[in-house]
Amino acid sequence: MTAQHAQWGSRLTFILAATGSAVGLGNIWKFPYMVGESGGAGFVLVYLVCIALIGMPVLVAEWLLGRRGGRNPIDTMAKLARERGRSRAWALLGVSGVLVGAVILSFYSVIGGWSLYYTGQAAGAQFAGADAEGVSEIFDRMLASPGTLLVVHTLFMAASVAIVARGLKGGIEMAVRLLMPTLAVLILVLLIYAMFTGHFGAALHYMFALDLDSLTGGTVLAAMGQAFFTLSVGAGIMMAYGSYLGQETDLLSTARTVIAFDTVFALAAGLIIFPIVFANGLETSEGPGLIFVTLPLAFAEMSGGTVIGVLFFVLLSFAALTSSISLLEPAVEFLDERSRLGRVGATVLSGALIWVLGIAALLSFNLWSAPLPVVDLTVFDLLDVMTSQYMLPLNGFFAVLFVGWVLDREQVRRELGLEGVRATLWSLAARVIAPLGVGAVFVAGLT
Ligand code: TRP
Repeated sequence: MTAQHAQWGSRLTFILAATGSAVGLGNIWKFPYMVGESGGAGFVLVYLVCIALIGMPVLVAEWLLGRRGGRNPIDTMAKLARERGRSRAWALLGVSGVLVGAVILSFYSVIGGWSLYYTGQAAGAQFAGADAEGVSEIFDRMLASPGTLLVVHTLFMAASVAIVARGLKGGIEMAVRLLMPTLAVLILVLLIYAMFTGHFGAALHYMFALDLDSLTGGTVLAAMGQAFFTLSVGAGIMMAYGSYLGQETDLLSTARTVIAFDTVFALAAGLIIFPIVFANGLETSEGPGLIFVTLPLAFAEMSGGTVIGVLFFVLLSFAALTSSISLLEPAVEFLDERSRLGRVGATVLSGALIWVLGIAALLSFNLWSAPLPVVDLTVFDLLDVMTSQYMLPLNGFFAVLFVGWVLDREQVRRELGLEGVRATLWSLAARVIAPLGVGAVFVAGLT
């Protein structure tokens, strides 16, 4: 075990790292296509409600647990359970978190690879003058080639490993400082472009004009899964990040900041993508390829589109990297603290295992595209659905339950700096609303 546990350089770096983890492909790639697959505003509403009522308490709970425990998620849970005289089985929550993070990274890296590929395409001016058909062709060609996907998946994984191996300060902090603000500026540029496509109103309507008919149990479950995915909760990641946190950081206000950034990025991505979808007569239900067949059209059309296109995909790749390094961190922290591998060895070993699983995921788009028996999903979809819709909410459920019901209530209130009504509200959220909310969504989704 490392003698001295590392700490974030400052509150700002912690906010940047947590935001870097939260904002990623989940916001820009996944959110728009999930909205499109589930028919628009109903999904968006449930998503926002889940973020506020479930995501926020779970996020705060994970940070609090991590900071209390001060170690990797597994030992943190074991230690806290012991302190409160509870079963050691709580350590399983940490185990599950570490595993889920690794599984998510396996398919996340495949999409990170797509971003890298598109950076290359944009740089080669491949989108210039392309129409909807040409752009789809580029996408299909990429998917059809296992070799191409393998190369870019490997590159993305290697970059993640290289950053995480360097440790907290040199790696993660450095990467988020510069990149996140630049990405925000570029999203703003694209948003302004989207406003002038003539279909911005339709996109607003699509995303926000509530039509309850589009809401099914499955949509509700998917929306909750997305809320967990986008906030990076339910996988031990925020617990691991919390373990590097000093006592002085105010968890509630930090959570509000991170959630605000995350939500703005997701909604902005939707408001950028859908006007392009409508303007070009594309399908909203395109699926995981949505941003890859819409944005290039915008880049093809706008002046300076090649430069903006390259910049955009570079930044998307970086946003994905600041998330992927967080997905790798809990497994690495655990192996590093519990073995003699050392930080570098631990990172390389975890990275290699995850890379192999990622290969199974990328083959889902070509050689192995037949759905698996029983579950009727491809490996890629199975990894995604299993983690986002089931394991993340389940882990989050137990994390917030532990903070709400197992930890000492007074101590938690003091730690969050809460008194009076706000303290009651917090208890209500952590003990009742968030756990029941997860339960209710499960019931709704499975019936
Ligand atoms: N939240 C990130 C995104 O939206 C992905 C991610 C990073 C994540 N860490 C996570 C998802 C932990 C679930 C759990 O792209």
